[in-house]
Amino acid sequence: MSALQHCVLILLVHLALGSDFQQGASIFAGGAQSTFVKNAYLGNIHSIKRRAAVQFPGLSTRHRVSRRSTDLGGDTCKSLQGYEDRLINNTHTFTFNDLSGSVSLAWVGNGTGVVLALTTFQVPFFMLRFGQSKLYRSENYGKSFQDVTSLINNTFILTEFGLAIGPENSGKVILTGDVSGSRGSRIFLSTDFGNSFTHTDLSFHPLMQIIYNPQDSDVLLVLSITNDLWLSEDFGANWRKIHETACLAKWGTDNTIFFTTNTNGSCNERGMLELRKTSDYGKTIKTIATKIYSFGLGGHFVFASVMTGTGTMRVIHVSVDQGESWNMAQLPPVGHEQFYSILAANNDVVFMHVDDPGDTNFGTIFVSDDRGTIYSKSLERHLYTTTGGSTDFTNVTSLRGVYMTSVLAEDGSAQTVVSSDQRVEATAEAE
Ligand SMILES: *[C@@H]1O[C@H](CO)[C@@H](O)[C@H](O)[C@H]1NC(C)=O
Ligand SMILES: *[C@@H]1O[C@H](CO)[C@@H](O)[C@H](O)[C@H]1NC(C)=O
Ligand SMILES: *[C@@H]1O[C@H](CO)[C@@H](O)[C@H](O)[C@H]1NC(C)=O
Ligand SMILES: *[C@@H]1O[C@H](CO)[C@@H](O)[C@H](O)[C@H]1NC(C)=O
Ligand SMILES: *[C@@H]1O[C@H](CO)[C@@H](O)[C@H](O)[C@H]1NC(C)=O
Repeated sequence: MSALQHCVLILLVHLALGSDFQQGASIFAGGAQSTFVKNAYLGNIHSIKRRAAVQFPGLSTRHRVSRRSTDLGGDTCKSLQGYEDRLINNTHTFTFNDLSGSVSLAWVGNGTGVVLALTTFQVPFFMLRFGQSKLYRSENYGKSFQDVTSLINNTFILTEFGLAIGPENSGKVILTGDVSGSRGSRIFLSTDFGNSFTHTDLSFHPLMQIIYNPQDSDVLLVLSITNDLWLSEDFGANWRKIHETACLAKWGTDNTIFFTTNTNGSCNERGMLELRKTSDYGKTIKTIATKIYSFGLGGHFVFASVMTGTGTMRVIHVSVDQGESWNMAQLPPVGHEQFYSILAANNDVVFMHVDDPGDTNFGTIFVSDDRGTIYSKSLERHLYTTTGGSTDFTNVTSLRGVYMTSVLAEDGSAQTVVSSDQRVEATAEAE
């Protein structure tokens, strides 16, 4: 099977886990859809048997759970037949003929038809890393690709940072290159949907993908491997260090940067971190919470997982005023082997996954009120693997108030479920 075919099978694979608020949804923010596929992970996906659909209450207890009735099947299949033919007619396969160990795919811009694909192959070779990456570009929604590796002068691109696509229709793309032996990294920047690139040499090595200010795509933020927080206000040309000992950083609304820091050194000392924010690109910095394990953003909510006074348990505190004041969320506390995850959030509601105790690969979805403090149980046995960190939770944006995801049945199979809003009549088989 070609690497691209693999990509079609999986939408999103999260990497690092063991932390709260690994936001699935946020990766898709700003109209950019970036997909990273690691071949090693594919085995797991296929080993989960997919089965029929049931429904789950998407929004609080006003909705009831209803199992899909069997007599729905006939009509549904007939009406789906036409779609399948159309889907086959509109499915194109492109094989990347290279030593690809992994492929990243990303839409660049909305409605432009531009797709970038980055393939990388890497083997550790004594202390050095030997690798090769290739960049491909499509202008026809991925039907065909041109090899444009020469645009980045055949530089090896660090796979883990993939393709950083700018918000909205900015046409911006950033790739992080690995220049062996240098004291910093080289980034490749495009402002014309990947048609041409320039490069800038950084005086540090990024620890994460460079993140764009959602309000201003010229303003970039990144953590270095030495845990310094760096900011650029001119699309990567000049960088300044705005904080040291930062552990995790995210863009909030209105040019606000939230980040955790450990003034005493190690970011591994979870539960001892401070949450800080700056609204003027680092000129003034304010501490807004302490005893922090991690934090997450969604809609206008700021969530922080905070250690309880005793033991190793933590709870969620929520703020609706950018961290000026906090309330405790009515969610179950979790221990160090569990995690919280924001599945979707807007200004009115948040869907929060709370991992079950033990190595179960499932947890419970809770739905909040508009203050983010009161929660009702929405779905149990929600599939969210701890190792792969993946969930099927999807906001069906074309149908208002409809969400899809998977549950892990008692027999170990995965079942696709759809929130039972009145408008949802039928659900598709997911074999
Ligand atoms: C699929 O393509 C074929 C050939 O172009 C065409 O005859 C057929 O009508 C198409 N089917 C659908 C469902 O679009
Ligand atoms: C996508 O492009 C269309 C037309 O250029 C525009 O109306 C729409 O707002 C854009 N959507 C986003 C999310 O940028
Ligand atoms: C590629 O190399 C050429 C010649 O050294 C240089 O002029 C050009 O700027 C480089 N392109 C990028 C994107 O770094
Ligand atoms: C830093 O260390 C001091 C002294 O050991 C301790 O009192 C303080 O709580 C620590 N602060 C953090 C944020 O870890
Ligand atoms: C789901 O998607 C719709 C349409 O894009 C959006 O309006 C809504 O806020 C989303 N819901 C959540 C909880 O994010």
